[in-house]
Amino acid sequence: MPADLRTKLGHIELPNPILTASGCAAAGRELSRFTDVAKLGAVVTKSIMLAPRAGRPTPRMAETPSGMLNSIGLQGPGIDAFLQRDLPWLLTQGARAVVSIAGGSVAEYAELAGRLSDAPGVTAIEVNISCPNVEDRGTVFACDPVAAAAVTEAVRSRARYDIPVFTKLSPDVTDIVAIARSCVSAGADGLSLINTLLGMAIDTRTMRPVLAGITGGLSGPAIRPVAVRCIWQVKQALPDIPVIGMGGVRTGRDAFELILAGASMVSVGTAIFHDPGACDRILRELGDELGRHGLGRLGDVIGLAHKPSGTARQQSLR
Ligand code: DHB
Repeated sequence: MPADLRTKLGHIELPNPILTASGCAAAGRELSRFTDVAKLGAVVTKSIMLAPRAGRPTPRMAETPSGMLNSIGLQGPGIDAFLQRDLPWLLTQGARAVVSIAGGSVAEYAELAGRLSDAPGVTAIEVNISCPNVEDRGTVFACDPVAAAAVTEAVRSRARYDIPVFTKLSPDVTDIVAIARSCVSAGADGLSLINTLLGMAIDTRTMRPVLAGITGGLSGPAIRPVAVRCIWQVKQALPDIPVIGMGGVRTGRDAFELILAGASMVSVGTAIFHDPGACDRILRELGDELGRHGLGRLGDVIGLAHKPSGTARQQSLR
């Protein structure tokens, strides 16, 4: 019998835990040529801002060993176009829409939450407080527990009560648990772990930075152990808070690793760029992985690596 992969996004049940990662599938339209977006746990959109934005100059992307650097600069259509065009399209496809939002101030985040709450069909809000590509690193809310809480609190109080709010944290901090606690105290229903790490590459031929934006967000398999560590630490400290895990997931086994660390859902990002069907494949592989371990329900696996006694299977493999 296939494994029961249902999971919970706050109070909302998803048919399976595989989501797109914000920024890697726009609002799902391009991806729908390769994947039935309605079959995913949810589509997480590229972060939406109030105004349309052209983003950073090119080059915006660079390959690195087992990873990718990007400096897009939150390019996007703005909330009006998103609500008129992208959200209705996702809903007509039958997809669940987790809308990522980004703002330059607490008031902007609150306004975005209000606008999304007035529209029908938003499954959840992911609050991107950790974009690495803002001009002023002083405004990376995720690097400061007080600022992270202020944004979370403003979004939670403006979002409709039945829309779960997940705050997305940056791994580029000394103590991610402190930031996580602060966001949860401010009302976050869940956390997304992790955003990209700030990185940089220099072209040794031109002797200049590769990216026009100079620094960029590092993603891909290179960062998966950082994601596993952050999810593990946050799950240990806040065992009842649901986590969307992301960071370098390429296979069902990688997704299984994040789930064992404590993620209830897993977003797939960079893998989509070279395998647009990655979400479907990873979902299939995750089901197979559970089957191989004789595990019938995803719910029994979330955070299982924390359990000292473990399953009979864990013990037999020691
Ligand atoms: C961008 C935003 C992010 O949150 C991220 O991790 C990487 C890039 C951007 O739009 O530049």
